[in-house]
Amino acid sequence: MSAIILAGKIYAEQLKQAAKNKINALIEKTGIHPGLTVIIVGEDPASQIYVRNKHRTCEEMGINSQIVRLPADVSKNELIKNIKMLNENKTVHGILLQLPLPQHLQKYESEILYKIAPHKDVDGFHPVNVGKLSIGEKALVPCTPFGCIKMLELANIPIDGKNAVIIGRSNIVGKPMANLLLAHNATVTICHSHTKNLPYITANADILISAVGKPGFVTADMVKPGATVIDIGINRIAPKKIVGDVDFQNVKEKAGFITPVPGGVGLLTIAMLMHNTADAAYHQLL
Ligand code: GUN
Repeated sequence: MSAIILAGKIYAEQLKQAAKNKINALIEKTGIHPGLTVIIVGEDPASQIYVRNKHRTCEEMGINSQIVRLPADVSKNELIKNIKMLNENKTVHGILLQLPLPQHLQKYESEILYKIAPHKDVDGFHPVNVGKLSIGEKALVPCTPFGCIKMLELANIPIDGKNAVIIGRSNIVGKPMANLLLAHNATVTICHSHTKNLPYITANADILISAVGKPGFVTADMVKPGATVIDIGINRIAPKKIVGDVDFQNVKEKAGFITPVPGGVGLLTIAMLMHNTADAAYHQLL
C-alpha cells in the first residue's frame, strides 16, 4: 500500500495560523508588533529568495520585518557592530543572520552568530539555546527540526516510545532533531558518515529522518514497512529541479507516511520562524 503523503503546505498553514493568533494576542495586550530583522550579506541568489519569502510572511503575520543588507566584502567587525546595534534595539525582538556567509567570513561564522543575544536568536543557534534544548528547558529551537516535531504532532503520529533514527548530525538539523525527539520520549539514534551498517539501523526506525544532502540516499530496503519517513534534504539536481534524500517513488510504496520534496518540511521552516519571533517578543514584552 502506498504511504500517506504529509503535505507541508497543510501543516505550515496550521502552524502559521497558530503563530498569527499568538501575535494578535500580543498586539492586543501591548499594542506592540513583534519585530524581526534579517541580516543578509552579499548577493547570493538563493538567499535573496529566502529573505524575500521571510519578509512577505512577516507582513502577512503582523510582524514588523526589517532587512539589513550588507555588501559582500563587509568586514567581520562591521557585521558584528550591526548585530550589537540590533541587540540593543528594543523594537527588534528577533535577529536572523542569513547563511551562508560570503567566503571570507565563513571561518568566523560561529563567532559572529554567537554575538546575537540569545533571547533574540530566532534561529536557535546560540549555545545558550542549544544548551537549554539539550537539558529540556524552554529555548528558542532551530526552525526546521521544530517544524518536523510540530508536523508529527499535528498528524497524530506517535513519538513516545518509538524508535527514531536520524541520518545526519549537523548542529542545525540532526542534533536539535535528536534532542526534540528525546524530549518527546522517543528512543533516538543518530547516524552519520562513519556509521557502520546503516540499513540495519534504519530498518528498525519507526520514524526515519534524513538530513544528508544526497539525492536517492534513502532507499526502500532501508525502511521498515509502515515507517514515517521525513525527508529534510534539499538537493538541486538541475537548474529547476530540487529533490530530497529519499528515493520517493520506491520508498512511498513501503512507508506508512512520507514527506515529499519539494512541498514537504521545507514549508514548515518559515512557519516556525514566525512562531519563534512571536515567542521571543512575548518574553521581551511580558
Ligand atoms: N539559510 C538557509 N536556511 C537558513 C536558516 O534556517 N537560517 C539561517 N540563518 N540561514 C539559512
